[in-house]
Amino acid sequence: MSILPERVELKTPEQILVMRRSGQLLHRVHEMLAEQIRPGVTTNQLDTLAHDMIRDAGATPNFLGYQGYPATLCLSVNDVVVHGIPDDRPLQDGDIVSIDGGLIIDGWHSDAARTHVVGEPRSVADAELVRITREALWTGIAALATAARVGEIGAAIEDFVADAAGESLSHLEGFGGHGIGSAMHQAPDVMNYRTRSRGPRVRPGLCLAIEPMLIQGPGNWVLEDDDWTVRATAGGRAAHSEHSVAVTEQGLLVLTAGDGGAAELALRGVVAAPDPLADAAG
Ligand code: MF3
Ligand code: CO
Repeated sequence: MSILPERVELKTPEQILVMRRSGQLLHRVHEMLAEQIRPGVTTNQLDTLAHDMIRDAGATPNFLGYQGYPATLCLSVNDVVVHGIPDDRPLQDGDIVSIDGGLIIDGWHSDAARTHVVGEPRSVADAELVRITREALWTGIAALATAARVGEIGAAIEDFVADAAGESLSHLEGFGGHGIGSAMHQAPDVMNYRTRSRGPRVRPGLCLAIEPMLIQGPGNWVLEDDDWTVRATAGGRAAHSEHSVAVTEQGLLVLTAGDGGAAELALRGVVAAPDPLADAAG
């Protein structure tokens, strides 16, 4: 182990354009999946749909085979927080399902997660869990727009969640986001709460996956015997929201958002970078 932080891979504008293509396809996969979620659908069916759409587009799923992971998506239902393996159990009305996926185009990775309620939420607490997790993600992304150091993202997410939820939601401790680019997981770590590290400097070319993971009530969890499934053990349900984001000379670009993040960032007083895909299309 070294006391020196691992080197951060800074991307050129040309590389960020390819990462945007990767992220835009992943956005379309998430849109397709959102249309398919309903009671009776199995998580294996969702996984197959995502796999086929990614392959048909000429891209490669990056989760499949990663450290032996057996599927294209992580599908985490109810008390499963992250890294749930798809199976043949039909989704039921009121289930909370987190869909996490990623893909590679021309060697460049994207990674994004959304949490959905199947049908109608079972309770106000479930609806709030999903809303606050998504807002926590956008709060973290907006913080990156003005941050000098990566650690400011976690500080902003921690403060937002404490304000919005008090003790009613806990962070999944020990998990966080990461650098992303020519590999899915790169330096630096991007935690969802304050740590002792200020993190590396924020500068153009930095690409991060930001991904708050929240649990109702206490944050206790176990890793199941399959060595993947992370399950909350204090009775609460969980949610997960993730985007891959690029810092550019022109500002922030949310690589895995349909509009590059323009609308959600504007709500938070941040002007998103122009979308290089829109420019490339002419
Ligand atoms: N998107 C996940 C993350 O970075 C990666 C899932 S692990 C895998 O948090 F094995 F499924 F790829
Ligand atoms: Co990730």
